[in-house]
Amino acid sequence: MKRLFILTLVVLMTAGIASFALAAGNGAGITNSPHDFSATIPTLNGEICRICHSPHDHHVTAQNYLEGLLWNHTMSSATYTMYDNTMTGTQFLDGAVDAQPTGTAKMCLACHDGTVAVDSYENHAGGTYVLPTYAEIPGFADGANRDLRGTHPISIVYDDVADGWLKPVTAPMGGSGTIGDVLENNKVQCMSCHDVHDAPIEAISGTPLLRVTDAGSAICLACHVK
Ligand code: HEC
Ligand code: HEC
Ligand code: HEC
Ligand code: HEC
Repeated sequence: MKRLFILTLVVLMTAGIASFALAAGNGAGITNSPHDFSATIPTLNGEICRICHSPHDHHVTAQNYLEGLLWNHTMSSATYTMYDNTMTGTQFLDGAVDAQPTGTAKMCLACHDGTVAVDSYENHAGGTYVLPTYAEIPGFADGANRDLRGTHPISIVYDDVADGWLKPVTAPMGGSGTIGDVLENNKVQCMSCHDVHDAPIEAISGTPLLRVTDAGSAICLACHVK
């Protein structure tokens, strides 16, 4: 009986530690999600959206809004080594890969490549809130470049005609609709797999903001016929 109690305690403690180390999305919306910094970044004055979007440009020095989506966060000036056909072991990608990350992947990398402070937005230089190491994508450098070869291909055309092992773009993508709905200009980006807002229906609770659960690798099987 006592042993069972201790075992239960250990299991509970391990579960507690695991959820502390890796903040998981709750699929209940951005409030209290890993991307809600309203309580942790004082300059936000309790706002949630402002660190990423602002309704007006407020005459800040950098025209981050040129990225689209009323973007308000400082962009990264890093260069990246892309996952592409030059890599040994790559099974010759069918989709064309952009020379550098494009579209909203650049917005994710503005925080996730670890070169820009998370609290650097609008007219705030930031520097107090540093990205936790677990969330740094990519985790390696290739000389002066950030090395995206260890990250699933991004900024790549979803070419299900040339690659018969990709599902058609009309195939379902969890609560987000179809594969076509999570592509940008027909390209796979970070947002194809992740829902940055942890929105209800779209994001799966208990996962890192995934659009389809990783249980049984369902997220991978959503696109790949394997
Ligand atoms: C304003 C900075 C910022 C931007 C922009 C941003 N993130 Fe994050 N993200 C973070 C920080 C900081 C964390 C870690 C939060 C924590 O652990 O408390 C995080 C955590 C995550 C996690 C892990 C969440 C979990 O449940 O474990 C994922 C996945 C993620 N971000 C994906 C993205 C994607 C995809 C984009 C672009 C569509 C993006 N992020 C844009 C700052 C940002
Ligand atoms: C951590 C950064 C971050 C925060 C905080 C954030 N967004 Fe976003 N938002 C993004 C990124 C990156 C995209 C583009 C990728 C995508 O559409 O998934 C985006 C896209 C959007 C879009 C256009 C696409 C769509 O889903 O309709 C809207 C509208 C939007 N956000 C509104 C909001 C609002 C409102 C809030 C606050 C309640 C908010 N966002 C908070 C990063 C953020
Ligand atoms: C093909 C789908 C896919 C794409 C594209 C993708 N991710 Fe992920 N990501 C995942 C999965 C699945 C996990 C959870 C498993 C893991 O951690 O390896 C994850 C985990 C994460 C985490 C949590 C930390 C970690 O390493 O576990 C962060 C942060 C993250 N992704 C950010 C990004 C960013 C930023 C991009 C774009 C540069 C991106 N992801 C592109 C599928 C994807
Ligand atoms: C949104 C659709 C989508 C999802 C989800 C997805 N992939 Fe992919 N994946 C692609 C596309 C598109 C390519 C590029 C295929 C090509 O052009 O040959 C690719 C390429 C790859 C490659 C490289 C193949 C090569 O030739 O080098 C691997 C490995 C891979 N994916 C594994 C995964 C795994 C593992 C997961 C789940 C964590 C996953 N993918 C989820 C769309 C997706």
